[in-house]
Amino acid sequence: MVPPFGWMAEWFKRASDMKTKLNPTQNDLRAKTRRAMIELLNQQLADVLDLGFQAKQAHWNVKGPHFIGLHELFDKVAKELEEFTDDIAERAVELGGIALGTIQIVAKRSRLDAYPLKIASGKQHVAALASALAKFGASTRAAIDAASKTGDADTADLFTEVSRGVDKLLWMVEAHTQSKE
Ligand SMILES: [Fe+2]
Repeated sequence: MVPPFGWMAEWFKRASDMKTKLNPTQNDLRAKTRRAMIELLNQQLADVLDLGFQAKQAHWNVKGPHFIGLHELFDKVAKELEEFTDDIAERAVELGGIALGTIQIVAKRSRLDAYPLKIASGKQHVAALASALAKFGASTRAAIDAASKTGDADTADLFTEVSRGVDKLLWMVEAHTQSKE
């Protein structure tokens, strides 16, 4: 396959080099496939955890005339991401891996840009969160392809659900910039 991102080539290499011991399971997916999926799931896990914290950061700090709508929307974004986070982490464990969800690992592995600390207006928070959602949406779409090409239709399906949900959240955030009326 032609990897859509540089990280994908890196991921394939890391996944096939990994000799991490898997927890025993009667799951019939091949160990090689499971190792690759655990690596992919943990990469997406780091990003979605970062994204969830970014939504909370926006929820807490947004100000301005559209405060209440945005404050509530950003919280809804964080809550929905929490469900995806749980599904991604648990699938890594189902496949015999360890979910890597600590702050220290997330800080090292997340591919999102650091959330700006000095912004306040609704417009700034909408722009920052929309761009983080879009970035995660793009890597999730690439993860669907990677999972299906590796032969794990269920992980591909999980990422498809996440991708559809993230597209919807992006729409809800971006809609604030799409009309002046
Ligand atoms: Fe709150």
